[in-house]
Amino acid sequence: MKTRITEMFGIEHPIIQGGMHYVGFAEMAAAVSEAGGLGIITGLTQKTPEGLRKEIRRCREMTKKPFGVNLTFLPAITPPDYPGFVKVIIEEGIKIVETAGNNPVKVLPAFKDAGVKVIHKCTSVRHSLKAESIGCDAVSVDGFECGGHPGEDDVPNFILLPRAAEELKIPFVASGGMADGRSLVAAMALGAEGMNMGTRFMATKEAPIHQNVKDALVKASELDTRLVMRPLRNTERVLNNAGVQKILEMEAAKGKDVKFEDIIAQVGGVYPKIMIDGDMDAGAFSCGMVAGLIHDVPSVKELIDRIMREAEEIIGKRLKMMAAA
Ligand SMILES: Cc1cc2nc3c(=O)[nH]c(=O)nc-3n(C[C@H](O)[C@H](O)[C@H](O)COP(=O)(O)O)c2cc1C
Repeated sequence: MKTRITEMFGIEHPIIQGGMHYVGFAEMAAAVSEAGGLGIITGLTQKTPEGLRKEIRRCREMTKKPFGVNLTFLPAITPPDYPGFVKVIIEEGIKIVETAGNNPVKVLPAFKDAGVKVIHKCTSVRHSLKAESIGCDAVSVDGFECGGHPGEDDVPNFILLPRAAEELKIPFVASGGMADGRSLVAAMALGAEGMNMGTRFMATKEAPIHQNVKDALVKASELDTRLVMRPLRNTERVLNNAGVQKILEMEAAKGKDVKFEDIIAQVGGVYPKIMIDGDMDAGAFSCGMVAGLIHDVPSVKELIDRIMREAEEIIGKRLKMMAAA
């Protein structure tokens, strides 16, 4: 499949692996890029810019194909060294950056000068248009079903994607709820030129995370995610567990007066406990409703090949037959 996204990023298949905290290490990104998609290293999982430099170099040893780096701008008590991360990304010759969270306008000039293509993740049409107006090359349109931060508008992809297609000139990929060939064909039909997956890539052999997380995703249904931190206007879709229940109880008890400090034990420093130690009740970690469509743990190549095969069958057989009937 050839789209503006495959052309822009120099990839074989229109499939991107979105940045994922404590998942997007070199092993994950390299496996996706080697399989013909676009793998992305999660910048801020590395504590320092020099740590990111090492991770980029590790990834280069595993693949010669293009891969990107995610840079997420979220509210933080002590903000990360963003200028340092930008400098390392450019110095290491990375040509694709996925930005997310706040408006990336401050980092765009440096990336543009260095010939870096920027795809910004947005949860609304207005943010997508803003990204286009400030010079982003593409957007990842993230619907309400997504794992992670769906924003506060709650518009699912069946509406959000065609709305984005009505307004945007730059290409966009569908993000949130994408799992298989059906997702890819549907996303294309709604106007996207590719898809971005997070949760689905966690349940792969190469994902460098604890087996307990992969098992939990296979076991989970589409009913097993919860939204936390809504009263803080920092909504996150997460897999339900004992820690998440504590957050929800605190939010129910305190209402809109709940503060970050009230839930810090279940949201701060949780990722290593889950992803490395496999402590599945430690607290909130991002997970999409798409968990309901995850039934196995294939290799990344098996997954991507299967998606492309399914997509081609749907277009070439099922839809063709319907159109001919
Ligand atoms: C465990 C996990 C961690 C994530 N961490 C980040 C992150 O650090 N930065 C970011 O921009 N997106 C992050 N995301 C969001 C993904 O990049 C992607 O947009 C999202 O997972 C798409 O929805 P899906 O899970 O339904 O595929 C994360 C998602 C998951 C599942």
